[in-house]
Amino acid sequence: MNVLTFDHVSCRYPGQGTDIVDRLSFEVKPGSFHCILGVSGCGKSTLFRMISGLMSPEKGSIYVNGKPVCGHGSYCGYMPQKDMLFPWRSVGENLALPLEIQRKLGKKEQRQQVEAALAEVGLAGCADKRPDELSGGMRQRAAFARTMLTGSDLLLLDEPFSALDFLTRISMQEWLLAQWRKTDKTILFITHDVEEALFLSSSVLVVEHTPIRALREIPVPMDFPRSRKDLARPEIIDLREELIGMLRKQVAE
Ligand SMILES: Nc1ncnc2c1ncn2[C@@H]1O[C@H](COP(=O)(O)OP(=O)(O)O)[C@@H](O)[C@H]1O
Ligand SMILES: [Mg+2]
Repeated sequence: MNVLTFDHVSCRYPGQGTDIVDRLSFEVKPGSFHCILGVSGCGKSTLFRMISGLMSPEKGSIYVNGKPVCGHGSYCGYMPQKDMLFPWRSVGENLALPLEIQRKLGKKEQRQQVEAALAEVGLAGCADKRPDELSGGMRQRAAFARTMLTGSDLLLLDEPFSALDFLTRISMQEWLLAQWRKTDKTILFITHDVEEALFLSSSVLVVEHTPIRALREIPVPMDFPRSRKDLARPEIIDLREELIGMLRKQVAE
């Protein structure tokens, strides 16, 4: 079964004359890692808002693990563009949020799960810190751990590294791939950065036009585990130029 199915989905923001998504259909297989690549403002985050049930399509249906998404319930782990850690809660209390909302575990078990999740992302011992005591990369790892604690097998990551400096960003990309390979999660990752999309994706889903009528799937011919050196391979450089060409066409439209 597909983790995610879009079936002829259309949507439009109030007050806008045209649809931003127009009869879009696509499917995502379990365990894959896809980047959704497109220029700013093309409608990428809108796709995530619909998958997470924050916004309803006007037409068509979206299914997560075969179940239709309607306006409520939690279908997936959603990590928005800003890390959205609440500054008045400790790091541990921030991570506990999805567990508190689900109300399945007592306080002690919640704390255990939080500690384990922090250790998993290299933040053991940070539970009692405030978010502003963490560096940018650490905050993103904490936000990722919180997303994992939703227990969802579909993770939606919306430009999670775009505010980080270059070196932190590339080590976070390597870190994220390692996390993904340790789990059986399916990851959709929004980016406008072509190199990031190539480095992370098993195949890139390119938004070529707004309204979004299709996502063009471009497989990335690199095995996992990957190293940044692979990005220097001639076929990857050609692919990078091809992707840049696709995005430039849209900017010129
Ligand atoms: N709340 C809103 N109301 C009206 N229009 C919106 C709203 N949010 C986004 N849009 C429109 O939808 C377009 C796509 O937004 P978004 O999906 O956030 O783009 P992306 O994530 O690709 O940068 C924006 O350019 C804007 O015109
Ligand atoms: Mg966006």
